[in-house]
Amino acid sequence: MTSPVYVAIDTPDLQRAKDLATRVRAHVGGIKLGLEFFAAHGQHGVRELAHVGLPIFLDLKLHDIPNTVASAIQALHDLAPAVLTIHAAGGRAMMEDAKAAAHPSTKVVAVTLLTSLDAGDLSSIGVGGDEHGQVERLTALAQEAGLDGVVCSGFEVAAARRAWRDGFFVVPGVRPAGGPVGDQKRVMTPRQALDNGASILVVGRPITKAEDPDAAARAIAATL
Ligand code: C5P
Repeated sequence: MTSPVYVAIDTPDLQRAKDLATRVRAHVGGIKLGLEFFAAHGQHGVRELAHVGLPIFLDLKLHDIPNTVASAIQALHDLAPAVLTIHAAGGRAMMEDAKAAAHPSTKVVAVTLLTSLDAGDLSSIGVGGDEHGQVERLTALAQEAGLDGVVCSGFEVAAARRAWRDGFFVVPGVRPAGGPVGDQKRVMTPRQALDNGASILVVGRPITKAEDPDAAARAIAATL
């Protein structure tokens, strides 16, 4: 079985990114590259990582007017990423146009609320009330707009799965049992997140900062 674990390679250093991906490739299912890497190395860098032979998750969290987002996604067409993120807050038309512009094999997944925002941040940008309600509203909007799924925590994914049976749910913030939690506030194990309904898991530092990243990836895979 292909591993559901995408390793988050969060570095602007291309050689280090390639070395890491090469070391762990036998025990992960894909590679997640974010804005930091893309700003530093662009499509050339993504192609270099794709040579490792694993699916690519491009975590660009696009958010702009529908035409601009669709044009940006068309410009990424030849990369055919397995997964691409956009912001649900960009609205229904933006999400519809993003999905229409994406490569047919790309899962277009929405970010609902950034977990870096607390209740005070949200009220200061005019999002009042219950954060949980906002996540639910944006998840439903993503579904109506024809997206493939959303990014959510392991604690939200069971409810998301009940509401959206065939949704594609990306769960970050997982930690192997007994490992360091770092700056993630609420974590669960990869196994629990899958049991709750995750489609894929994003795992960064527990693999990338391990003394032996391949052994860490292998140990996580063994629990799944
Ligand atoms: O190192 P760690 O496993 O915490 O990395 C998690 C990855 O998932 C990072 O790339 C981070 O940006 C991303 N992410 C997250 N929490 C969210 C959304 C994305 O940790 N709520």
